[in-house]
Amino acid sequence: MAHSPQAATHAWYQRGMLAQGHRVVVSELGEEPLEAIERHATLETMAAPDSQTLSARDVIIAIASASVGWVDLLMTSGQYQHMPKPPYTPGLEYAGTVVWAGPDANLPIGERVLVDAFLSGPRSLGAYQAYGGFASYAVAPIEAVHRIPGALTFDQACNLLGNYETAYHCLITRGRLRAGETVLVHGASGSTGLAAVHVAKLVGATVIATGRSAEKLAVVKAQGADHVIAGGDSMRDAVKAITGGTGVDVVYDGVGGELSVESLRCVRFGARYLIVGWAATPFVAKGKGQRGAPNANQLPTNLIMMKGLDVLGCPTVISTVNDPSLRAPRLAQILAWAEAGQIRPHVSHVFPLAEFKTAMRTKWSGEVIGGCVLHPAT
Ligand SMILES: NC(=O)c1ccc[n+]([C@@H]2O[C@H](COP(=O)([O-])OP(=O)(O)OC[C@H]3O[C@@H](n4cnc5c(N)ncnc54)[C@H](OP(=O)(O)O)[C@@H]3O)[C@@H](O)[C@H]2O)c1
Repeated sequence: MAHSPQAATHAWYQRGMLAQGHRVVVSELGEEPLEAIERHATLETMAAPDSQTLSARDVIIAIASASVGWVDLLMTSGQYQHMPKPPYTPGLEYAGTVVWAGPDANLPIGERVLVDAFLSGPRSLGAYQAYGGFASYAVAPIEAVHRIPGALTFDQACNLLGNYETAYHCLITRGRLRAGETVLVHGASGSTGLAAVHVAKLVGATVIATGRSAEKLAVVKAQGADHVIAGGDSMRDAVKAITGGTGVDVVYDGVGGELSVESLRCVRFGARYLIVGWAATPFVAKGKGQRGAPNANQLPTNLIMMKGLDVLGCPTVISTVNDPSLRAPRLAQILAWAEAGQIRPHVSHVFPLAEFKTAMRTKWSGEVIGGCVLHPAT
Protein backbone atom coordinates (compact mmCIF):
# COMPACT_ATOMS: atom_id res chain seq x y z
CA MET A 1 0.00 0.00 0.00
CA ALA A 2 2.82 2.40 0.87
CA HIS A 3 4.04 2.41 -2.74
CA SER A 4 0.66 2.46 -4.53
CA PRO A 5 -0.12 5.52 -6.67
CA GLN A 6 -3.04 6.29 -4.37
CA ALA A 7 -0.83 6.29 -1.29
CA ALA A 8 1.73 8.47 -3.03
CA THR A 9 -0.94 10.91 -4.06
CA HIS A 10 -2.45 10.83 -0.66
CA ALA A 11 0.88 11.79 0.88
CA TRP A 12 1.34 14.56 -1.67
CA TYR A 13 -2.17 15.72 -1.01
CA GLN A 14 -1.69 15.62 2.76
CA ARG A 15 1.39 17.81 2.52
CA GLY A 16 -1.06 20.55 1.57
CA MET A 17 -0.10 20.84 -2.09
CA LEU A 18 -3.66 21.61 -3.10
CA ALA A 19 -4.26 25.31 -2.89
CA GLN A 20 -7.27 26.85 -1.27
CA GLY A 21 -9.96 27.45 -3.86
CA HIS A 22 -13.29 29.19 -4.38
CA ARG A 23 -16.89 28.18 -4.79
CA VAL A 24 -20.20 29.85 -5.54
CA VAL A 25 -22.81 29.54 -2.78
CA VAL A 26 -26.56 30.17 -3.22
CA SER A 27 -27.70 31.06 0.29
CA GLU A 28 -31.45 31.12 -0.40
CA LEU A 29 -33.86 30.67 -3.31
CA GLY A 30 -35.12 33.70 -5.25
CA GLU A 31 -38.50 34.49 -6.76
CA GLU A 32 -36.79 34.09 -10.14
CA PRO A 33 -33.19 33.40 -11.25
CA LEU A 34 -32.03 36.98 -11.90
CA GLU A 35 -33.09 38.02 -8.40
CA ALA A 36 -31.36 34.97 -6.89
CA ILE A 37 -28.14 35.71 -8.81
CA GLU A 38 -28.12 39.35 -7.65
CA ARG A 39 -29.10 38.86 -4.04
CA HIS A 40 -28.36 35.33 -2.91
CA ALA A 41 -25.31 34.05 -4.85
CA THR A 42 -21.79 34.81 -3.59
CA LEU A 43 -18.23 33.67 -4.21
CA GLU A 44 -16.56 32.19 -1.13
CA THR A 45 -13.17 30.65 -0.42
CA MET A 46 -13.08 26.88 0.03
CA ALA A 47 -10.46 24.53 1.43
CA ALA A 48 -9.51 21.52 -0.67
CA PRO A 49 -11.62 18.50 0.40
CA ASP A 50 -10.03 16.46 3.20
CA SER A 51 -9.34 12.95 1.92
CA GLN A 52 -9.30 11.62 5.51
CA THR A 53 -13.06 12.12 5.61
CA LEU A 54 -13.73 10.42 2.26
CA SER A 55 -14.54 6.83 1.31
CA ALA A 56 -12.25 4.43 -0.52
CA ARG A 57 -14.40 4.84 -3.65
CA ASP A 58 -14.29 8.64 -3.69
CA VAL A 59 -12.43 10.87 -6.12
CA ILE A 60 -11.37 14.51 -5.68
CA ILE A 61 -11.48 16.49 -8.90
CA ALA A 62 -9.82 19.84 -9.57
CA ILE A 63 -12.48 21.42 -11.73
CA ALA A 64 -11.32 22.92 -15.02
CA SER A 65 -14.70 23.68 -16.63
CA ALA A 66 -18.27 23.80 -15.37
CA SER A 67 -21.30 24.19 -17.58
CA VAL A 68 -23.72 27.03 -16.81
CA GLY A 69 -26.96 25.31 -17.79
CA TRP A 70 -30.60 26.28 -17.93
CA VAL A 71 -31.34 23.95 -15.01
CA ASP A 72 -28.58 25.60 -12.91
CA LEU A 73 -30.39 28.90 -13.36
CA LEU A 74 -33.88 27.55 -12.73
CA MET A 75 -32.69 25.86 -9.54
CA THR A 76 -31.68 29.19 -7.98
CA SER A 77 -35.38 30.12 -7.81
CA GLY A 78 -36.58 26.65 -6.84
CA GLN A 79 -38.50 26.26 -10.10
CA TYR A 80 -36.81 23.02 -11.08
CA GLN A 81 -38.46 19.80 -9.97
CA HIS A 82 -35.49 18.46 -8.04
CA MET A 83 -33.21 20.73 -6.00
CA PRO A 84 -30.89 20.81 -3.04
CA LYS A 85 -31.83 22.91 -0.03
CA PRO A 86 -29.82 26.12 0.23
CA PRO A 87 -27.09 26.88 0.97
CA TYR A 88 -25.73 24.92 -1.98
CA THR A 89 -23.16 25.20 -4.78
CA PRO A 90 -24.63 25.20 -8.34
CA GLY A 91 -23.07 23.38 -11.27
CA LEU A 92 -24.71 20.15 -12.41
CA GLU A 93 -22.01 19.23 -14.89
CA TYR A 94 -18.29 19.72 -14.72
CA ALA A 95 -14.99 18.30 -15.97
CA GLY A 96 -11.47 18.40 -14.60
CA THR A 97 -8.48 16.45 -13.38
CA VAL A 98 -8.27 13.75 -10.72
CA VAL A 99 -6.09 14.99 -7.84
CA TRP A 100 -6.86 12.22 -5.34
CA ALA A 101 -8.54 8.84 -5.70
CA GLY A 102 -9.45 6.46 -2.88
CA PRO A 103 -7.81 3.01 -2.91
CA ASP A 104 -10.91 1.37 -4.42
CA ALA A 105 -11.49 4.04 -7.03
CA ASN A 106 -8.74 2.73 -9.30
CA LEU A 107 -8.15 5.93 -11.23
CA PRO A 108 -4.78 7.43 -12.10
CA ILE A 109 -3.96 10.87 -10.74
CA GLY A 110 -4.06 13.41 -13.53
CA GLU A 111 -6.79 11.56 -15.46
CA ARG A 112 -9.07 13.95 -17.37
CA VAL A 113 -12.63 13.20 -16.28
CA LEU A 114 -16.21 14.38 -16.48
CA VAL A 115 -18.82 13.83 -13.79
CA ASP A 116 -22.30 12.35 -14.17
CA ALA A 117 -24.94 14.75 -12.78
CA PHE A 118 -27.31 11.85 -12.03
CA LEU A 119 -24.90 10.51 -9.40
CA SER A 120 -23.12 13.58 -8.03
CA GLY A 121 -23.80 17.31 -7.72
CA PRO A 122 -26.93 19.40 -7.10
CA ARG A 123 -29.32 17.22 -9.11
CA SER A 124 -28.24 13.97 -7.45
CA LEU A 125 -29.57 12.53 -4.20
CA GLY A 126 -27.56 11.96 -1.03
CA ALA A 127 -24.16 13.08 0.22
CA TYR A 128 -22.64 14.09 -3.14
CA GLN A 129 -25.36 16.68 -3.75
CA ALA A 130 -23.15 19.07 -1.76
CA TYR A 131 -20.48 19.23 -4.50
CA GLY A 132 -21.45 21.54 -7.36
CA GLY A 133 -19.29 22.41 -10.35
CA PHE A 134 -19.10 26.19 -9.71
CA ALA A 135 -16.10 25.49 -7.48
CA SER A 136 -12.39 24.76 -7.56
CA TYR A 137 -12.84 21.19 -6.23
CA ALA A 138 -15.54 18.56 -6.00
CA VAL A 139 -15.81 15.05 -4.63
CA ALA A 140 -17.65 12.37 -6.62
CA PRO A 141 -18.04 8.60 -6.20
CA ILE A 142 -16.16 6.54 -8.78
CA GLU A 143 -19.48 5.44 -10.41
CA ALA A 144 -20.07 9.08 -11.37
CA VAL A 145 -16.65 9.63 -12.93
CA HIS A 146 -15.96 8.97 -16.64
CA ARG A 147 -12.71 9.39 -18.53
CA ILE A 148 -13.25 12.21 -21.05
CA PRO A 149 -13.94 10.46 -24.35
CA GLY A 150 -12.02 11.11 -27.56
CA ALA A 151 -10.47 14.50 -28.07
CA LEU A 152 -13.08 16.51 -26.17
CA THR A 153 -11.79 19.56 -24.33
CA PHE A 154 -12.84 20.20 -20.71
CA ASP A 155 -15.26 22.86 -22.00
CA GLN A 156 -16.88 20.36 -24.36
CA ALA A 157 -16.85 17.53 -21.81
CA CYS A 158 -18.93 19.45 -19.26
CA ASN A 159 -21.54 20.00 -21.99
CA LEU A 160 -21.81 16.38 -23.05
CA LEU A 161 -24.02 14.17 -20.92
CA GLY A 162 -27.00 16.33 -19.93
CA ASN A 163 -27.49 17.85 -23.36
CA TYR A 164 -26.92 14.75 -25.46
CA GLU A 165 -28.79 12.44 -23.09
CA THR A 166 -31.77 14.80 -23.36
CA ALA A 167 -31.53 14.84 -27.15
CA TYR A 168 -31.16 11.04 -27.26
CA HIS A 169 -34.04 10.41 -24.85
CA CYS A 170 -36.37 12.78 -26.67
CA LEU A 171 -35.51 12.00 -30.29
CA ILE A 172 -34.61 8.33 -30.16
CA THR A 173 -36.20 6.74 -27.07
CA ARG A 174 -39.44 8.72 -27.17
CA GLY A 175 -39.53 10.08 -30.72
CA ARG A 176 -38.35 6.92 -32.53
CA LEU A 177 -36.64 9.20 -35.08
CA ARG A 178 -35.36 7.26 -38.10
CA ALA A 179 -33.07 7.91 -41.05
CA GLY A 180 -34.89 9.66 -43.87
CA GLU A 181 -37.40 11.42 -41.60
CA THR A 182 -37.62 15.18 -41.10
CA VAL A 183 -37.50 16.78 -37.65
CA LEU A 184 -38.36 20.37 -36.68
CA VAL A 185 -36.07 21.47 -33.80
CA HIS A 186 -37.17 24.53 -31.79
CA GLY A 187 -34.66 26.37 -29.59
CA ALA A 188 -31.96 24.88 -31.81
CA SER A 189 -29.32 27.38 -30.71
CA GLY A 190 -29.72 26.26 -27.08
CA SER A 191 -27.70 23.65 -25.22
CA THR A 192 -30.15 20.80 -25.66
CA GLY A 193 -31.45 22.10 -29.00
CA LEU A 194 -28.02 22.09 -30.63
CA ALA A 195 -27.40 18.61 -29.22
CA ALA A 196 -30.70 17.57 -30.82
CA VAL A 197 -29.48 18.91 -34.17
CA HIS A 198 -26.29 16.84 -33.85
CA VAL A 199 -28.09 13.65 -32.74
CA ALA A 200 -30.74 13.94 -35.46
CA LYS A 201 -28.01 14.25 -38.10
CA LEU A 202 -26.19 11.21 -36.64
CA VAL A 203 -29.43 9.23 -36.99
CA GLY A 204 -29.70 10.28 -40.64
CA ALA A 205 -32.67 12.66 -40.37
CA THR A 206 -33.22 15.98 -42.15
CA VAL A 207 -33.17 18.86 -39.65
CA ILE A 208 -35.20 22.07 -39.86
CA ALA A 209 -34.01 24.37 -37.04
CA THR A 210 -35.90 27.39 -35.72
CA GLY A 211 -34.86 30.36 -33.58
CA ARG A 212 -35.35 34.07 -33.04
CA SER A 213 -31.96 35.21 -34.30
CA ALA A 214 -30.69 34.82 -37.87
CA GLU A 215 -27.15 35.32 -36.55
CA LYS A 216 -27.40 32.40 -34.13
CA LEU A 217 -29.14 30.26 -36.74
CA ALA A 218 -26.19 30.76 -39.08
CA VAL A 219 -24.07 28.98 -36.47
CA VAL A 220 -26.72 26.25 -36.08
CA LYS A 221 -26.58 25.70 -39.84
CA ALA A 222 -22.80 25.52 -39.74
CA GLN A 223 -23.25 22.92 -36.98
CA GLY A 224 -25.26 20.67 -39.28
CA ALA A 225 -28.89 21.82 -39.60
CA ASP A 226 -30.14 21.34 -43.18
CA HIS A 227 -32.59 24.26 -43.08
CA VAL A 228 -33.17 27.17 -40.70
CA ILE A 229 -36.27 29.29 -40.12
CA ALA A 230 -35.82 32.59 -38.31
CA GLY A 231 -38.46 34.21 -36.11
CA GLY A 232 -40.59 36.55 -38.17
CA ASP A 233 -40.79 34.14 -41.12
CA SER A 234 -44.08 32.25 -41.46
CA MET A 235 -43.07 28.92 -39.96
CA ARG A 236 -45.95 27.00 -41.47
CA ASP A 237 -45.27 28.25 -45.00
CA ALA A 238 -41.53 27.69 -44.66
CA VAL A 239 -41.92 24.11 -43.33
CA LYS A 240 -44.48 23.23 -45.99
CA ALA A 241 -42.15 24.60 -48.70
CA ILE A 242 -39.19 22.57 -47.40
CA THR A 243 -41.20 19.33 -47.02
CA GLY A 244 -43.07 19.60 -50.34
CA GLY A 245 -46.34 20.39 -48.56
CA THR A 246 -46.27 17.29 -46.32
CA GLY A 247 -45.09 18.62 -42.96
CA VAL A 248 -42.47 17.14 -40.63
CA ASP A 249 -42.44 13.68 -39.03
CA VAL A 250 -41.23 14.82 -35.61
CA VAL A 251 -41.22 18.10 -33.64
CA TYR A 252 -38.62 18.63 -30.86
CA ASP A 253 -40.13 21.44 -28.79
CA GLY A 254 -37.91 22.89 -26.08
CA VAL A 255 -39.54 26.34 -26.33
CA GLY A 256 -43.32 26.00 -25.78
CA GLY A 257 -45.87 28.82 -25.71
CA GLU A 258 -47.30 30.08 -29.01
CA LEU A 259 -44.62 28.29 -31.00
CA SER A 260 -46.12 24.95 -29.92
CA VAL A 261 -49.53 25.76 -31.35
CA GLU A 262 -48.05 26.98 -34.63
CA SER A 263 -45.93 23.80 -34.78
CA LEU A 264 -49.04 21.60 -34.79
CA ARG A 265 -49.84 23.14 -38.16
CA CYS A 266 -46.43 22.12 -39.58
CA VAL A 267 -46.71 18.35 -39.16
CA ARG A 268 -47.80 15.45 -41.32
CA PHE A 269 -50.67 13.18 -40.25
CA GLY A 270 -49.53 10.81 -37.49
CA ALA A 271 -46.44 12.86 -36.55
CA ARG A 272 -44.71 12.62 -33.14
CA TYR A 273 -44.71 15.81 -31.09
CA LEU A 274 -42.02 15.84 -28.39
CA ILE A 275 -42.57 18.09 -25.38
CA VAL A 276 -39.02 18.82 -24.21
CA GLY A 277 -39.27 22.09 -22.27
CA TRP A 278 -40.60 25.63 -21.95
CA ALA A 279 -37.78 28.08 -22.64
CA ALA A 280 -40.35 30.72 -23.67
CA THR A 281 -42.41 30.36 -20.49
CA PRO A 282 -39.89 29.24 -17.88
CA PHE A 283 -41.97 29.97 -14.78
CA VAL A 284 -44.29 26.98 -14.75
CA ALA A 285 -43.75 26.68 -10.99
CA LYS A 286 -43.83 29.45 -8.42
CA GLY A 287 -40.63 31.06 -7.17
CA LYS A 288 -38.77 30.31 -3.94
CA GLY A 289 -39.37 26.60 -4.36
CA GLN A 290 -43.15 26.70 -4.12
CA ARG A 291 -45.12 24.35 -6.39
CA GLY A 292 -48.08 25.30 -8.59
CA ALA A 293 -48.32 26.10 -12.30
CA PRO A 294 -49.31 29.71 -12.90
CA ASN A 295 -48.83 29.59 -16.68
CA ALA A 296 -48.86 25.97 -17.80
CA ASN A 297 -48.59 25.44 -21.55
CA GLN A 298 -51.71 24.18 -23.31
CA LEU A 299 -52.11 22.45 -26.69
CA PRO A 300 -55.33 22.44 -28.77
CA THR A 301 -56.89 18.97 -28.68
CA ASN A 302 -58.70 19.52 -32.00
CA LEU A 303 -55.41 19.65 -33.95
CA ILE A 304 -53.99 16.70 -32.01
CA MET A 305 -57.11 14.68 -32.76
CA MET A 306 -57.60 15.56 -36.44
CA LYS A 307 -53.92 15.05 -37.29
CA GLY A 308 -53.70 11.78 -35.35
CA LEU A 309 -50.65 13.03 -33.45
CA ASP A 310 -48.60 11.24 -30.81
CA VAL A 311 -47.89 13.91 -28.18
CA LEU A 312 -45.06 12.64 -26.01
CA GLY A 313 -43.79 14.08 -22.73
CA CYS A 314 -40.03 13.62 -22.57
CA PRO A 315 -38.62 14.24 -19.05
CA THR A 316 -35.23 12.56 -19.31
CA VAL A 317 -34.39 12.33 -15.61
CA ILE A 318 -37.87 11.36 -14.41
CA SER A 319 -38.24 8.73 -17.15
CA THR A 320 -34.89 7.27 -16.18
CA VAL A 321 -35.76 7.16 -12.49
CA ASN A 322 -38.93 5.28 -13.47
CA ASP A 323 -37.07 2.94 -15.80
CA PRO A 324 -33.32 2.80 -14.97
CA SER A 325 -32.72 0.39 -17.90
CA LEU A 326 -33.00 3.39 -20.26
CA ARG A 327 -29.67 4.76 -19.09
CA ALA A 328 -26.97 2.24 -20.02
CA PRO A 329 -27.58 2.04 -23.80
CA ARG A 330 -28.02 5.83 -24.00
CA LEU A 331 -24.82 6.54 -22.11
CA ALA A 332 -22.87 3.93 -24.09
CA GLN A 333 -23.97 5.41 -27.43
CA ILE A 334 -23.17 9.00 -26.45
CA LEU A 335 -19.73 8.13 -25.08
CA ALA A 336 -19.04 6.06 -28.21
CA TRP A 337 -20.06 8.92 -30.51
CA ALA A 338 -17.84 11.31 -28.53
CA GLU A 339 -14.94 8.83 -28.55
CA ALA A 340 -15.21 8.58 -32.34
CA GLY A 341 -15.30 12.37 -32.73
CA GLN A 342 -18.89 12.34 -34.01
CA ILE A 343 -20.09 14.55 -31.16
CA ARG A 344 -18.29 17.80 -30.36
CA PRO A 345 -20.42 20.09 -28.16
CA HIS A 346 -20.30 23.73 -29.27
CA VAL A 347 -19.39 26.32 -26.61
CA SER A 348 -19.86 30.02 -27.40
CA HIS A 349 -19.06 31.69 -24.05
CA VAL A 350 -16.38 31.12 -21.37
CA PHE A 351 -15.92 33.09 -18.11
CA PRO A 352 -13.60 32.91 -15.09
CA LEU A 353 -15.37 31.75 -11.89
CA ALA A 354 -15.18 35.25 -10.42
CA GLU A 355 -17.49 36.41 -13.23
CA PHE A 356 -20.13 33.79 -12.46
CA LYS A 357 -22.89 36.41 -12.19
CA THR A 358 -22.15 37.71 -15.68
CA ALA A 359 -22.02 34.15 -16.97
CA MET A 360 -25.39 33.26 -15.45
CA ARG A 361 -27.02 36.46 -16.71
CA THR A 362 -25.58 35.88 -20.19
CA LYS A 363 -27.01 32.36 -20.26
CA TRP A 364 -30.42 33.53 -19.03
CA SER A 365 -30.57 36.37 -21.60
CA GLY A 366 -30.25 33.94 -24.51
CA GLU A 367 -26.93 35.19 -25.91
CA VAL A 368 -25.30 31.77 -25.71
CA ILE A 369 -25.12 29.30 -28.60
CA GLY A 370 -24.71 25.76 -27.26
CA GLY A 371 -22.66 25.86 -24.08
CA CYS A 372 -21.66 28.53 -21.54
CA VAL A 373 -18.72 27.57 -19.32
CA LEU A 374 -17.08 28.74 -16.08
CA HIS A 375 -13.35 28.23 -15.45
CA PRO A 376 -12.73 27.87 -11.70
CA ALA A 377 -8.97 27.87 -12.10
CA THR A 378 -8.78 31.35 -13.67
N1 LIG B 1 -36.89 17.10 -21.36
C1 LIG B 1 -35.80 17.12 -20.67
O1 LIG B 1 -35.36 16.12 -20.12
C2 LIG B 1 -35.01 18.41 -20.56
C3 LIG B 1 -33.64 18.39 -20.24
C4 LIG B 1 -32.95 19.60 -20.20
C5 LIG B 1 -33.62 20.79 -20.45
N2 LIG B 1 -34.97 20.76 -20.70
C6 LIG B 1 -35.74 21.98 -20.98
O2 LIG B 1 -35.57 22.33 -22.34
C7 LIG B 1 -35.64 23.74 -22.49
C8 LIG B 1 -34.39 24.21 -23.21
O3 LIG B 1 -33.26 23.91 -22.39
P1 LIG B 1 -31.81 24.34 -22.88
O4 LIG B 1 -30.88 23.83 -21.85
O5 LIG B 1 -31.59 23.94 -24.28
O6 LIG B 1 -31.95 25.92 -22.77
P2 LIG B 1 -31.11 27.04 -23.51
O7 LIG B 1 -29.72 26.57 -23.74
O8 LIG B 1 -31.31 28.29 -22.74
O9 LIG B 1 -31.80 27.18 -24.92
C9 LIG B 1 -33.13 27.55 -25.08
C10 LIG B 1 -33.32 28.11 -26.49
O10 LIG B 1 -34.71 28.40 -26.63
C11 LIG B 1 -34.86 29.58 -27.37
N3 LIG B 1 -35.73 30.50 -26.62
C12 LIG B 1 -35.55 31.03 -25.41
N4 LIG B 1 -36.56 31.85 -25.07
C13 LIG B 1 -37.38 31.85 -26.11
C14 LIG B 1 -38.60 32.51 -26.39
N5 LIG B 1 -39.14 33.36 -25.52
N6 LIG B 1 -39.19 32.27 -27.56
C15 LIG B 1 -38.62 31.44 -28.44
N7 LIG B 1 -37.47 30.79 -28.23
C16 LIG B 1 -36.85 30.99 -27.08
C17 LIG B 1 -33.51 30.24 -27.53
O11 LIG B 1 -33.14 30.17 -28.88
P3 LIG B 1 -33.14 31.51 -29.80
O12 LIG B 1 -32.63 32.63 -28.97
O13 LIG B 1 -32.24 31.13 -30.92
O14 LIG B 1 -34.53 31.70 -30.21
C18 LIG B 1 -32.56 29.39 -26.71
O15 LIG B 1 -31.33 29.15 -27.37
C19 LIG B 1 -35.80 24.30 -21.07
O16 LIG B 1 -37.17 24.56 -20.83
C20 LIG B 1 -35.32 23.18 -20.18
O17 LIG B 1 -35.92 23.20 -18.91
C21 LIG B 1 -35.65 19.61 -20.79
